[in-house]
Amino acid sequence: MPAVVIIGAQWGDEGKGKATDLLAGRIDYVVKFNGGNNAGHTVVVGDEKYALHLLPSGILTEGVTPIISNGVVVDIEVLFGELDALSARGVDVSRLLISANAHVITHYHRTIDKVTERFLGKRQIGTTGRGIGPAYADKINRVGIRIQDLFDENILRQKVEGALNIKNHLLVKVYNRRAIGADEVVDELLSYAERLRPMVVDTALVLHQALERGETVLFEGGQATMLDVDHGTYPFVTSSSSTAGGAATGSGIGPNRIDRVIGIVKAYTTRVGAGPFPTELFDESGEFLRKTGFEFGTTTGRPRRCGWYDAPIARYTARINGVTDFVMTKLDVLTGLESIPVCVAYDVDGVRVDEVPVSQSDFHHAVPIYENFAGWSEDISGARTFDDLPKNAQDYVLAIEAMSGARISAIGVGPARDAIVVRHDLLG
Ligand code: GDP
Ligand code: IMO
Ligand code: MG
Repeated sequence: MPAVVIIGAQWGDEGKGKATDLLAGRIDYVVKFNGGNNAGHTVVVGDEKYALHLLPSGILTEGVTPIISNGVVVDIEVLFGELDALSARGVDVSRLLISANAHVITHYHRTIDKVTERFLGKRQIGTTGRGIGPAYADKINRVGIRIQDLFDENILRQKVEGALNIKNHLLVKVYNRRAIGADEVVDELLSYAERLRPMVVDTALVLHQALERGETVLFEGGQATMLDVDHGTYPFVTSSSSTAGGAATGSGIGPNRIDRVIGIVKAYTTRVGAGPFPTELFDESGEFLRKTGFEFGTTTGRPRRCGWYDAPIARYTARINGVTDFVMTKLDVLTGLESIPVCVAYDVDGVRVDEVPVSQSDFHHAVPIYENFAGWSEDISGARTFDDLPKNAQDYVLAIEAMSGARISAIGVGPARDAIVVRHDLLG
């Protein structure tokens, strides 16, 4: 069972590191295939807490070779900062490999991210401000800078000048900002080249060879299905393919290589940034979820919007990604609630709609139709088998499983690495 993809099934921050941890010791390679340092993964290992942005959380697993593949946008300063911080804490990062085709986030991408958001005013997306969208826009527009360009000064200069040409007109004439000089960008990028060089390889070839040898490769998606540029709540999305298909295009393996797709869902729902969110709560229940679940962004520190579990979204995710297994996280956060509502369908202008509506406007004002489940008050953080869970918690999981389009193979019951109930082997 060599190629496994992990994806977020909601709007991100589902606790994707939990599934990675579950596979620890059985993975040879871990690949970040999309996004950049907009991601924020908090992973608790023993007494240590790690916050990762650009690097996949699998880097914390000893013996694994981490890969940043072609689908990623790389802010090199952030990359070096994260590598140094992990090294200082004793994590071996020496095996990291980076695709020569990955795109680079530069100073001007970050600037443009911030000024475009400001200009959108009320229509803001609420981006992380890390230059992600502008870097992907340049890639699609064929004016991006790739990692390999850093090793050819002439090419790099030509490309940076080309990319800045129109941008400087925009920055000065539209956004009222100062122009960015090509030299300062080129010099900065060149200063990274030597340290970067030994890490840069044909990662698609490395992965192909690993799979041929029967080694296990974990593709760790950043962001989530509902933030995917094609399948998410566009335009309130990120700018990459964060669904399972993105693992193939974002790394250069064939789609028929993928054996398992693991969708990570929270036992409720959260979202950071703007955009539709039918089950969002504005009352004390939302406050309860935010407080109990520590729902504050790892990257920007923003409070996350919180709401109940949305079964049509889980079904949508299962379809779009070909989910074989769900890992449900944070069931422990629901402990103490008398009754737990689950969205089973929507009311759109008086009509019951069972699936995610095709029209974004319908989704914007879809009103959840809830079914209520009885809660439990027992502490479940020590549960390690399904039988250890209180009957009402079991019933909640089973009911959700029946609505969600794939089996729930593991259940998170606390932030710690081992706080998990396994029902089915994720590689079995
Ligand atoms: P990611 O973006 O999907 O990697 O997730 P984040 O790290 O942004 O957010 C998930 C948070 O939930 C982290 O702080 C985790 O430590 C925490 N977490 C993961 N699984 C569980 C769980 O089962 N229970 C609780 N209480 N916290 C969890
Ligand atoms: P992880 O991997 C939650 C959201 C931002 C914003 C939108 C676009 O930790 O699950 P961007 O900076 O990507 O252009 O912002 O996407 N967003 C995330 N929300 N978790 C993430 O990553 C996110 N990455 C981006 O809040 O609404
Ligand atoms: Mg996160």
